[in-house]
Amino acid sequence: MTMKEPEFETFQASLLRWFNASARDLPWRRNPSPYAVWISEIMLQQTQVKTVLPYFLRWMKRFPDVEVLSRATSEEILKHWEGMGYYSRAESIRRTALELAANHCGALPRSYAELLKLPGIGPYTAGAIMSFAFNEPCPVLDVNVERVLVRVFNIEGRVKEASVHKLLVEKALRLIPEGNSGRFNQAMMELGATVCSAQKPQCPECPVRRHCESLRLGVVDRRPEPGKPKRTTPLQVAIGVLAHDGGILIQKRPPTGLMAGLWEFPGGKVEPGETPEDALEREFLEELELGVHAAGKIATIRHSYTSFKVTLHAFDCRLRDGGRRDPVLHSAVEARWVEPGALDEYAFPSANRKLINLLKKGDRQTKP
Ligand code: ADE
Repeated sequence: MTMKEPEFETFQASLLRWFNASARDLPWRRNPSPYAVWISEIMLQQTQVKTVLPYFLRWMKRFPDVEVLSRATSEEILKHWEGMGYYSRAESIRRTALELAANHCGALPRSYAELLKLPGIGPYTAGAIMSFAFNEPCPVLDVNVERVLVRVFNIEGRVKEASVHKLLVEKALRLIPEGNSGRFNQAMMELGATVCSAQKPQCPECPVRRHCESLRLGVVDRRPEPGKPKRTTPLQVAIGVLAHDGGILIQKRPPTGLMAGLWEFPGGKVEPGETPEDALEREFLEELELGVHAAGKIATIRHSYTSFKVTLHAFDCRLRDGGRRDPVLHSAVEARWVEPGALDEYAFPSANRKLINLLKKGDRQTKP
């Protein structure tokens, strides 16, 4: 029989005892201020804990509060985000900081509805701030918590379905112990992230196994029902390292869209029927009005984003004789000739960053 209301207290006590004994020591848990919870939860939304750790520590050192953050440039904020992906998260954080500094005395509001009005803050983040920082009884449903609830209550259907989601919110809310929402929700999250994992659940070690209906029925490995597999589109891209008069040409992406505001080496998509060299020369002409030729392959770099698998063909390139030297911008918002040693001061997408690291090591691919 699925757990009944009177059992909730034993569930809560067992879970919290386990959490107190075995929680990971994570920096955003030491002092869960609204600011620390906000920043860490945005970082953790699409990025793993071990990746986030150094970013979070560096961020809190440089931007210890909303006031300091609200005075920072987009450029510096992006540089602190470089490598975590989903760069619109960083821009939303900046806009929220400006709004909080201007209209909320630099503080996050203690109101779920008010939090939801801020850029980049959705039900998950608003719930996390209300619960972890203010200890208010709000459900916090990330994939880990959803999995725990689905298994404990043996809920059928996909978690993305509206009816399933509604049920999960109800269950999550009813399970929260009075006055201890923050620790309890963190504990649910921790259980899902460690013991009640998607692929290899450690049921014998689970502190709430006595309450788990899926375990009783022997269907843990079938819960939750798998979602539809995500498609990743393969993408061939050619980019050029154009050196001239001691500088390398880089360009800044527009403030909206994919990887907004990041710097990159010029280039673009290889169209059907083109070689990467053709694509490179065409893109330099179309986007910068520069005539170049590909002078040699530096490397082939593969990088996976959420919905793309990019193969980046990176070339040394040279300006053609007699053409213009100064770019005319058709897609980028800015271009600069930068000394190689100064490339580290700019925020680049990860695949470009891999190329810079190869350039620094002096690595060159010998074969095309
Ligand atoms: N993933 C998302 N939020 C988290 C948190 N607060 N602690 C650990 N992992 C998380």
